[in-house]
Amino acid sequence: KNSYGDDIEAVVISERQIRDRTAELAAAVATRYPAAEDDLLLIGVLKGAMMFMTDFARALPIPCQMEFMAVSSYGSATSSSGVVRILKDLDRDIADRDVVIVEDIIDSGLTLSWLMKNLRTRHPRSLEVCTLLRKPDAVRNVVEVADVGFDIPNEFVVGYGLDYAERYRDLPYIGRLRRSVYQD
Ligand code: PRP
Ligand code: MN
Ligand code: MG
Repeated sequence: KNSYGDDIEAVVISERQIRDRTAELAAAVATRYPAAEDDLLLIGVLKGAMMFMTDFARALPIPCQMEFMAVSSYGSATSSSGVVRILKDLDRDIADRDVVIVEDIIDSGLTLSWLMKNLRTRHPRSLEVCTLLRKPDAVRNVVEVADVGFDIPNEFVVGYGLDYAERYRDLPYIGRLRRSVYQD
């Protein structure tokens, strides 16, 4: 894909790196559910996690089911607004299920800490998080992240599900967005 001109300054994480690390994460997660009665339940957080969710599910060595929630914290700005809205809720009950929230990125940590609190009220058997990316600020808000693919610097990244104003999600890699694209 080169249709975004020079909007992408640099590749931060390549397709190959994403694929290799996803396999490692999936293997690590699977070892924690050796004798599960029910299939593991993955909850993908739309829209950002869509790419990672589908690749992660395919890489997982154990059976899993997939559900999706859509929440939004940013709108089209480049930093968190502090407000989390449910745009689409789960279709089914998660009580007594082993649940893994699948996220693309933890930035301020606000979305995930809110989501975990929300899902815990539905009494899953267990609840953990697997995120592909994490930024330094996340350390302040989310204490219990089980698995992190890559810790990345505090730069604006897009691609592989991550957007700026709904664009760039379709890139197959994570790239750094040129400043002039989001600064006026
Ligand atoms: C982005 C990203 C995470 C969240 C991280 O979603 O996909 O879900 O923000 O930010 P935080 O840790 O500061 O809360 P966004 O709200 O942009 O919605 P989207 O997934 O539909 O792009
Ligand atoms: Mn998101
Ligand atoms: Mg977004």
